[in-house]
Amino acid sequence: MPIKELKDVDVTGKTVVVRQDLNVPIKNGVITNDKRIRAALPTLNDALARGAGVIVLSHLGRPTEGEYDAQFSLKAVAGRLSELLGIPVPLVESIERTKVAPGQCVLLENVRFLKGEKKNAPDLADKFARMGDVYVMDAFGAAHRAHASTEGAVRRAPVACAGPLMAAELAAFARVLDNPARPIAAVIGGAKVSTKLALLDNLLSRVDCLIVGGGIANTFLAAAGFGVGTSLHEPDLIVEAQKIMAKAKSLGRDMPLPIDVVTAVELTPGAKAMTRDASAAPDGEMILDIGPKTVKLYETLLAKAATVVWNGPVGAFETDPFGAGTKALAQALADSKAFVVVGGGDSVAAVESYNLADKMGYISTGGGAALELLEGKLLPSVAALQDRG
Ligand code: 3PG
Repeated sequence: MPIKELKDVDVTGKTVVVRQDLNVPIKNGVITNDKRIRAALPTLNDALARGAGVIVLSHLGRPTEGEYDAQFSLKAVAGRLSELLGIPVPLVESIERTKVAPGQCVLLENVRFLKGEKKNAPDLADKFARMGDVYVMDAFGAAHRAHASTEGAVRRAPVACAGPLMAAELAAFARVLDNPARPIAAVIGGAKVSTKLALLDNLLSRVDCLIVGGGIANTFLAAAGFGVGTSLHEPDLIVEAQKIMAKAKSLGRDMPLPIDVVTAVELTPGAKAMTRDASAAPDGEMILDIGPKTVKLYETLLAKAATVVWNGPVGAFETDPFGAGTKALAQALADSKAFVVVGGGDSVAAVESYNLADKMGYISTGGGAALELLEGKLLPSVAALQDRG
């Protein structure tokens, strides 16, 4: 269903409220990754350049509602936003009395300090909606939350629309999920099958090839009858994993499992790594990466793909020497001609750490929101935008 976009709205002389996801990692008051702030800039610059006054809203972390807590303040974010926009961006606290002149930008303090945000309280949603003339929902990373400043305000604002970041995210995922260029492959890694069951099930009916990695692959190896030693895996999910493999077979999907793996006795930097046949991970060892033969196999399969979606690393990539598989896969995807969408915190972090982000088709700013889209869900804030569309 079509949704209204900021580009189609006249904002000159108006107050535009932009809900962004500026939930960035902060250590000792210092922002350690400002990607989400940078991703918000085109939206804010567009509204400012067209003569709007802009009020930015965001959450940060998960504070207790109704209580101010300095560690969850957006102060550092206001500072960074001001540097990047090249204009002062004061941090304001009043939801009712905040006024902005054309060309001015302010940032409201963390919306999760306000009681009723997470419960989507109608009175709070009304207040957000009435802060300006136009409400721009650009917080893709929070679009799966039906909160007062997301779904609630979109439904109540005088005019509601999607910002360009939201539109770009939805377009990238639509290119993967609706009528993708084929063949399409998915690489789903990460620790636990339990967190990705719905996603694996949904993707299986859409993709031609499903590659699993990380702890998830260990559960599948166990489900295929292989010993996995002390590897992270979920014995309770073995039956589910067997059902997924059976479904892959009945649908005629390619669902390869690792043929060799890298193991160690413990997961510590510099631990002695062994390459083993996937069918022979000894009792006292854990699987921490895919082996070189598996890398080759996956490279061959991915080389055939015209579309790839990647969510989750295939090994303990942050700990040396267990990052080779994830790095090789990232490089293969960077070199490939396929349209590649990378979504989910850890795989994005991996791609960024190898400086390959620019070589991917699309890098999502969403974690949970990207997962829910890949599960086939309609995100509440997107549903609200469609209803206002
Ligand atoms: C995220 O980091 O995934 C988003 O900002 C959503 O945060 P939340 O899971 O605390 O709602």
